[in-house]
Amino acid sequence: MITLKGKVHYVGVNDRIKTLFEGLWPLPYGVTYNSYLIADEKVALIDTVDANYFDLFLDKIKEVIGDRPIDYLIINHMEPDHSGSIRLLRQFYPELTVVTNKKALEMVKGYYGTASSSKVIDEGDTLELGHHVLRFHMIPMVHWPETMVSYDLTDHIVFSGDAFGCFGALNGTPLDYQMDPTIYWSEMERYYSNIVGKYGSPVQRALQKLKDLEIDMICATHGPVWTGENVPRVISVYDRLSRYATEEGVVIAYGSMYGNTQQAAEAVAEELSREGIRKVVLHDVARTNHSFILADIFRYKGIILCAPTYNASIFPQMEMLMSEIEMRGIKDRYLSYFGSFSWACHSVKRLAAFSEKVGFEVVGNPVEMKQGLMPDTRKACEALARAMADRLKMDRQPA
Ligand SMILES: Cc1cc2nc3c(=O)[nH]c(=O)nc-3n(C[C@H](O)[C@H](O)[C@H](O)COP(=O)(O)O)c2cc1C
Ligand SMILES: [Fe+2]
Ligand SMILES: [Fe+2]
Repeated sequence: MITLKGKVHYVGVNDRIKTLFEGLWPLPYGVTYNSYLIADEKVALIDTVDANYFDLFLDKIKEVIGDRPIDYLIINHMEPDHSGSIRLLRQFYPELTVVTNKKALEMVKGYYGTASSSKVIDEGDTLELGHHVLRFHMIPMVHWPETMVSYDLTDHIVFSGDAFGCFGALNGTPLDYQMDPTIYWSEMERYYSNIVGKYGSPVQRALQKLKDLEIDMICATHGPVWTGENVPRVISVYDRLSRYATEEGVVIAYGSMYGNTQQAAEAVAEELSREGIRKVVLHDVARTNHSFILADIFRYKGIILCAPTYNASIFPQMEMLMSEIEMRGIKDRYLSYFGSFSWACHSVKRLAAFSEKVGFEVVGNPVEMKQGLMPDTRKACEALARAMADRLKMDRQPA
């Protein structure tokens, strides 16, 4: 049994089998579906787990409450990685009352059939469990419309749903002070960039709403339970990313079939380094899963995109990356781009249309590279890199 504090227990599960989260994002360290059980005078379960893990989930619940019934199932978020066990849970605990907001309750009906017993709550409503009292705060579009947090007024715990979540299975304990949480910080940025990234403004509104709460513990639906000085740190990560704030550095994302565009991308990276830009990352858009590229794009101020012309358009994986950037509403970046071709260049036109659409500040002159990297195109690529380096350096604070 994993007790977080007093009557509050962790009954979540590790998923080390799933290869692609949401069918898209690889999980090098696995993922958790966190669920929490408050065994008070009333028993409240907060969120559930992926249906594939129901057996294990039920065992964990019974380990805490034995044969006691569950009085309330509180649903903060309806994405099936958390709501997946609702139908089975109702079979084992037919007397439980679903406690959630109106929008989420409609989704319960839509996914799992009518809830036998339910209690609809709204912003600021409370639920008495005995010693513990929970209060509910709506955080719509973080990252679905029905999302809310449950705040425990007694122990100052925020049960936050996906907000403040991260990829990575747990290794023995959910409690941050009993582990080395290093890997979770970068997995938090990758989780945010890919799952929540489009919803910067709703996340900012949610943070405003939560800012006056006294928070001793964050219990999200993915990753560790955060306490102590990690509480403000986790909040600051979500704050920074939702403001689309950046640090000095450049992501070079390139497509290349035969290596010519890659060579040009390498030349650009070398020139950036010579110019004193220390954080430069190259990603092959066809080989690196885009979740890693997008996490770097969230981190760095400079983006350089380059790809070959392909069937009178652009290399398909670059088309995909452009759509992913656009979809996330990423703001305030410097963009340089160039493209290659053999007989009629279209890639640069496509990149230009993208840059207009997203409204990034375009830096340097786009290069159209015909066939191989020759001395003149190399020079033009280096000039582009210098323009990016100069633009970034203009933002440096005087020492
Ligand atoms: C399937 C395919 C389609 C292509 N379509 C075009 C095209 O429409 N116009 C063009 O000028 N070049 C086209 N090319 C040529 C590439 O843009 C050119 O060879 C470029 O140098 C490839 O860069 P890389 O070496 O980085 O892969 C195509 C190449 C392939 C393999
Ligand atoms: Fe979710
Ligand atoms: Fe989730």
